Amino acid sequence: MRDVAVIGVGMNRWGELWDKSLRAIFVESALAAMDDAGVDHIDAMLIGCMTSGLFTEQEHLASLLSDYLAVNPVGAVRVESACSSGGNAVRLGLIQVASGAADIVLVGGVEKMTDVDGGGATAALATAADTEYESYHGATFPALYALIARAHMERYGTTREQLASVAVKNHENGSLNPRAQFRNKLTIEDVLNSSAVADPLRLLDCSPITDGSAAVILAPVEMAKKLGKPVVKITGSGIATDSIALHSRDDLTYLKATERAAEQAYAQAGIGPKDVDFAEVHDCFTIAEICVTEALGFFERGQGARAAQAGETSRNGKRPVNASGGLKSKGHPVGATGVAQIVELTEQLRGTAGDRQLKSPRRGLAQNMGGTGGSTTVHILEVTP
Ligand code: COA
Repeated sequence: MRDVAVIGVGMNRWGELWDKSLRAIFVESALAAMDDAGVDHIDAMLIGCMTSGLFTEQEHLASLLSDYLAVNPVGAVRVESACSSGGNAVRLGLIQVASGAADIVLVGGVEKMTDVDGGGATAALATAADTEYESYHGATFPALYALIARAHMERYGTTREQLASVAVKNHENGSLNPRAQFRNKLTIEDVLNSSAVADPLRLLDCSPITDGSAAVILAPVEMAKKLGKPVVKITGSGIATDSIALHSRDDLTYLKATERAAEQAYAQAGIGPKDVDFAEVHDCFTIAEICVTEALGFFERGQGARAAQAGETSRNGKRPVNASGGLKSKGHPVGATGVAQIVELTEQLRGTAGDRQLKSPRRGLAQNMGGTGGSTTVHILEVTP
């Protein structure tokens, strides 16, 4: 297998992009990534997208986008695994380059969620839960994560203020990110006083509904070395699944698929959680970031909330988490999120993250999950100067 590097990244400003079509949103990021890599062709394309059918009535997406990007007849495939569609597309692109099936692979992620109203978006997203046992009974994603939050509070004494501290941190980080949907800073009181969505979660505990895209170009490390930029190598990749329905899990607060995917990625990279300098993780709700940091082994079980409140995951903390602003502030166009995490890791490792640049990180981790953790990918990226 060949070693694989990220040689180009691109991402547009996320938000409510009512003046742009799905295809136009994708092409912006894809062209930016090709430009960044300095390539005028690609050998294959993968697109992470959860549900362009329900959000925009457009299926057969990969062919449409390869046409609009003017790269057909290149082979192109859409990858769907709910909110981890992007991370799964990255992993499949990595395998294509590593195996020698292709040299230059464009991995894109895109979602246009605001062409439907709020109820339509909630219903579309709910198809990623267990339809028969969860969605039919009214369990939306805010409701499912509220169950997880309540269980974490009961078991570990996690407080409302601790949950809010995750949103405050991520908005603080997002205020430095020109591509973030929400760049306003928050206080703990803002979060606690925002409107109730699903008790105990409030509006400002939730990631928003977002239009946006992201793209990366993957290529063999040997090719990357000739480009005159720091080489950002993917040193670990893991993937795992769990039951979609929460009722089938032994422990609502524990993200088994994240633990499994991380174990694989750590083993491949030859490292452990302590060796990770910074991470981009799936904070679709504040409680999610807390559970994820525990499952990744950054903190003991039950300690994630305390660590967030103590500032251990802030930009100047021991291990920064979601320096981009995360899903909470940067936005969550579901199929694009996992690809955007790789964009952020690459920019941080290259030292080109602008105002939100962390202090000389060498190794970053991206964790992307679908639903309440029914699917998860973990990637580890390292830079060599
Ligand atoms: N964070 C911060 N502000 C938000 C926000 C969020 N998540 N969602 C909406 N807002 C703001 C809007 O900009 C708007 O501000 P304005 O009045 O100044 O214009 C205001 O709050 C109301 O927005 P609206 O779109 O009417 O909110 P809503 O009640 O329809 O939707 C949520 C709010 C939380 C229900 C919705 O964002 C949501 O469902 N989020 C979760 C998405 C999800 O489940 N993703 C998949 C995860 S697995």
